[in-house]
Formats: sequence, structure tokens, C-alpha cells
Amino acid sequence: MLVVDAKELTKCYGTFTAVNGISFSIEQGECFGFLGPNGAGKTTVMGVIHCFMPPTSGEVRVFGIDVSADPGGIKARLGVMPQDDNLDPDLSVLENLVVYARYFDIPKKRGALLAAELLAFVELTDKAAVKIGDLSGGMKRRLLLARALINTPELLILDEPTVGLDPHSRHAVWEKLRHLREKGTTLILTTHYMEEAEKICDRVAIMDSGRIITVDSPHHLMEAHGGSLEDVYLKLTGRSLAD
Ligand SMILES: Nc1ncnc2c1ncn2[C@@H]1O[C@H](COP(=O)(O)OP(=O)(O)O)[C@@H](O)[C@H]1O
Ligand SMILES: [Mg+2]
Repeated sequence: MLVVDAKELTKCYGTFTAVNGISFSIEQGECFGFLGPNGAGKTTVMGVIHCFMPPTSGEVRVFGIDVSADPGGIKARLGVMPQDDNLDPDLSVLENLVVYARYFDIPKKRGALLAAELLAFVELTDKAAVKIGDLSGGMKRRLLLARALINTPELLILDEPTVGLDPHSRHAVWEKLRHLREKGTTLILTTHYMEEAEKICDRVAIMDSGRIITVDSPHHLMEAHGGSLEDVYLKLTGRSLAD
């Protein structure tokens, strides 16, 4: 079953075309990565998939439903870990999860139970009462992951899940993502870390300037082009990910 099916997706901001007629599909249970430098259009694609904004043109189906037809129905079934930290600084770690549960109409008792379970999953139980400002960067990313899981999503969208993290925290997030994938959750992530793409993605779409240059497994790409995924990226786009 296809969880996401996009045909000729274009997204413009005013006269600027951020995503330029891309087509791709993502199978249930896959971990699919969008790889590309800043400005490639990755966050824009995520925004359309999670019904944050409509496409300018083209057709995008999530769970077989057109994003323009039933955004509310789609949103209820997915989780989003945003690129930027938008946790509520006035609330504690636990309260951030409990309040989020209410947006999904999860009954209070169940919300509290889920929040406790998710804090344990991301190893933040001992931080439950702490304010957001007192968390490290890695802890915030893990809390954002827990929050994205509050509605037990079938599809999890992760926008730069480990950006700015030290290697230890990065590995901790990868371990959680692998665990979720093993449980059958479909994962879509954006990254400009080659190691991340190689370690956890079944397939990657290499993006540049609003277009998809190629889609394949990291293994196949490296085999077909030779060298590391970074070499493949350089060869196909003519630029380095540090650009
Ligand atoms: N709300 C917006 N208004 C105008 N331009 C935007 C907006 N959001 C993104 N862009 C532009 O669209 C392009 C793609 O941005 P984005 O999707 O955030 O890329 P990425 O996530 O790959 O860095 C960039 O050139 C960016 O400046
Ligand atoms: Mg982005």
C-alpha cells in the first residue's frame, strides 16, 4: 500500500517556485529520506504531506486521501517532528505532551498514560517536571519525537530530526527511529547528514533546487555511481551538502 503518492507536485511562494513538479511514492513501512542542501525544498514537501499547506498544483495523496479533500482526517493519522523547536516554554516536559494529546481529543486519563509511556520511550522520565528551557538540545529533540507520537501515528514525518546534535544524541534518536520502523510505522525524514541517510533510510530522494534528481536505496546509489553517498550526491548535483 502507498502511504504517500505525489504526482507533479509544485509549490510556489508568491512568484518563487520552491518545489518544481516532483513525483514520488512511499510504501507503508518504509523509511524514506529527502536529502539535499538548505533551500532544496525539503521542508516545503513535508509541509504539503502533513497538510500544513496545500500544493500550488499537482496531486498528493496520503493514506490514499487527497490532501485537499480531507486534511483533518489525514492529520489525525500522522505525527510531525518539526525542524525547529516549537515546544511550549511555559509548560513542563510532561505538560507539553498532555496538552498536545488534547488536540487529538485523547481522553485525559489515556493522554496522561500515553505521555508517561512516551517519556519512558525517549528516556526523559526523570525530566517530566522540568521546564523546556532547562533541557539540552538533544533532550528537546527527543521530546519533540515523543510529542509527534502522542496520537500513535501510522506515518511519522521528521524534519531534520538530528540537526545540531552531538554523535551520542544522534545515535540515540536513530535507535528510536529504528524501533518505530520495526513496529511498522512509516517514516519520512529530511536530512543533510549522509550517515543518517545510509544508516536508517530504505530509500532516499536526492533533491536540489525544488526537483528530485534521483530516488533509490543508498546501497544502490553507491553501487551504481561508486564511492560514498556523499560522492554520489556531489556527482549528481555538482555541489556539496555544506553549500
Ligand atoms: N514561507 C515561505 N515564503 C517564501 N519563501 C519560502 C517560504 N518557505 C520557504 N521558502 C523558500 O523556499 C525554498 C525551499 O525552502 P525549504 O522548503 O525550507 O527548503 P529546505 O527545507 O530544503 O531547506 C527556499 O529558497 C526558501 O527560502
Ligand atoms: Mg528544511
